[in-house]
Amino acid sequence: MTSQPAHPSSDREPHGSTAPTAPTAPTPAGRPAAALPPAEVARLAEAILAEVGTAVVGMQAALRTALAAVLAGGHVLFEDVPGLGKTLAARSLATALGLDFRRVQCTPDLLPSDITGSSVWDPGEARFRFAPGPVFTGLLLADEINRTAPKTQSALLEAMAERQVTADGTTYPLPAPFHVVATSNSVEYEGTYPLPEAQLDRFLVRLAVGHPDRDAETDVLLRRVARREEAAPVRRVVDAATVLGMQAGVEAVQVDPDVARYCVDLAAATRAHRAVDVGASPRGSQSLLLVSRALAVLSGRRFATPEDVKEVAVPALAHRLTLTPAAWAAGVAAEDVVRQVLAEVAGPATVPAAG
Ligand SMILES: Nc1ncnc2c1ncn2[C@@H]1O[C@H](COP(=O)(O)OP(=O)(O)O)[C@@H](O)[C@H]1O
Ligand SMILES: [Mg+2]
Repeated sequence: MTSQPAHPSSDREPHGSTAPTAPTAPTPAGRPAAALPPAEVARLAEAILAEVGTAVVGMQAALRTALAAVLAGGHVLFEDVPGLGKTLAARSLATALGLDFRRVQCTPDLLPSDITGSSVWDPGEARFRFAPGPVFTGLLLADEINRTAPKTQSALLEAMAERQVTADGTTYPLPAPFHVVATSNSVEYEGTYPLPEAQLDRFLVRLAVGHPDRDAETDVLLRRVARREEAAPVRRVVDAATVLGMQAGVEAVQVDPDVARYCVDLAAATRAHRAVDVGASPRGSQSLLLVSRALAVLSGRRFATPEDVKEVAVPALAHRLTLTPAAWAAGVAAEDVVRQVLAEVAGPATVPAAG
């Protein structure tokens, strides 16, 4: 396995503008960004995660997977009980990535047009003109997405999937990069609307953040005391053009056919599992491989390994499974199904040569 020279986390300059191989000018529309080499992507990713770690205690695995998902071009859902730092994590990641950032607090009265935008009358020009909503940004934090009504959720999920908004017959493309980091509380209060299973797969990964252990929680408290204010500031590490270059780097990651077949076998095993009504589709296996490739490049490798696949199988697949009513009633979790499948499906015997 290729190891990377550790990037000193004390170096807190924005790396996007100083790294010699990083493009600094915005990429003109339509021209693909030049792929950054894996070692450079790994170095920048480490710096991004170190910066996020100045505000967020613990959560390393979830944050690494979230970053991998963004570099794979996808959207991220953080789902867990309240008060675990989900909003803080999403906001910190957005800041470190240097993307245009908007936040929408999803409330029951939020309208679809509050997210997508709408036509407003322009008295000066005596005509309607499209006023873009907060979805027109680099990174949208959709906070507590399960608190807003289904039709507003649908408008957001549609924009996420299509990367465009259509209003009054005109289509407006969203900028690139465009990513949604959503948070959802897994406690179902009265007046919440669980995301429809059929739309959950608009998210490339769903991540639980988990409770901090005793030391980490103490650290959260003491850091708050030490900084003498609520806000935990995070600095920008890269910029939008560099994110595009990192994303292009993911596309350059090679895949041994055995590793692709392993993804297919895992998805197929979820479909055959007795607790599952509808298992992972080819979109699911494709997503699994894509996040695995992003994880490979985060480790500075030009090829994805079965270990990459194993590491992201739960966050990439669990939210794509619909359990049978009986399994659901028995309290089976989709995450457990994926773990079981991982234990049962044999991985490829051959490990691809270093490339
Ligand atoms: N892992 C963590 N690291 C740093 N701060 C945390 C962590 N977990 C919780 N907090 C603190 O707890 C509070 C709640 O965090 P928040 O992001 O609003 O939680 P959530 O969105 O999950 O409900 C914030 O004041 C945050 O600073
Ligand atoms: Mg929150």
